Amino acid sequence: MDVSDVEPKQHDLVTHRGFKLIHGTHDPNDVDQIYNLEIRDTDVFVVTYPKSGTIWMQQILLLFEVKGDVTAVSELNNQCNADFIPWIEVKGSRQAFITAPSPRLRVTHLQYQFMPAALSQRKGKVIYVARNPKDVLVSYFHFHKLANMLETPKDFDDFFEKFMRGEVFGSSWFEHIKTWYSHKDDMNMLFITYEEMIQDLQSAVERISLFLGKELTGEQLANVVRHSTFNNMKKIPQANYEQVSGDLLNHRQGTFMRKGTIGDWKNHFTVAQNERFDKVFHREMEDFALTFIWDIR
Ligand code: A3P
Repeated sequence: MDVSDVEPKQHDLVTHRGFKLIHGTHDPNDVDQIYNLEIRDTDVFVVTYPKSGTIWMQQILLLFEVKGDVTAVSELNNQCNADFIPWIEVKGSRQAFITAPSPRLRVTHLQYQFMPAALSQRKGKVIYVARNPKDVLVSYFHFHKLANMLETPKDFDDFFEKFMRGEVFGSSWFEHIKTWYSHKDDMNMLFITYEEMIQDLQSAVERISLFLGKELTGEQLANVVRHSTFNNMKKIPQANYEQVSGDLLNHRQGTFMRKGTIGDWKNHFTVAQNERFDKVFHREMEDFALTFIWDIR
């Protein structure tokens, strides 16, 4: 039998215009139409490479909508935060976006070139959340064991190689950040890092609130911060994804809210892997005018 006759499996990756999507979760034709979407000034896209704090930002934006009143969240969405702030690239999501009432809040892992062209005409707003790619790699490794739509890695070393080659959903971390950051001045973008949020969540929430033009009292902002800490989110089923169907996440393998820390890569990388990662980081990022608060020098 010819290899091309083999039907792709649910978790197989599909390369579309150089970018890896997940067969069964994404439809390349649908993804291509995102580019032409009309954008309203009230639209907000949270852009992340996977495992950079997407669900954290979903919780913060949702809490803004209810002015920090966590009990009101269940009136907005009674299942999971992702029902209210879904991924634009997932099958069926684009159609729903077109007719959804404002404000349309969405998350995405897509690279810049797939996103609505109108964003680059300063329509809508973009929040890009970046995270130390070493911690992203570790978080992604554990997530692959949990997520039924992704292939279970053989072991950490095998996953390390796949990540370095960009053979994961989202493709290369380096490409992702570069495609977006190099266009940041064309759009209304807030660029923030996971590490800044860990170090001072209050300031991060204030920055996001200012960027979105939210008018919350000090007490309401304090409530947004309180209900978006790692420990508190872990207790909120809608926020921590424990209500996501067992078909998508194998909850016996672990939790989506895993550790929520900086520097877990030190518990996983060998010295050789770390040296190699640093070399690639330098090569990929040397012409890129951006310094990070994590310590890859
Ligand atoms: P870890 O696996 O390192 O714990 P995403 O939502 O983009 O998939 O990112 C998931 C990562 O963000 C996980 O990282 C998760 O624990 C972390 N995370 C989610 N909410 C968080 C919070 N409130 N504080 C710190 N980390 C959080």
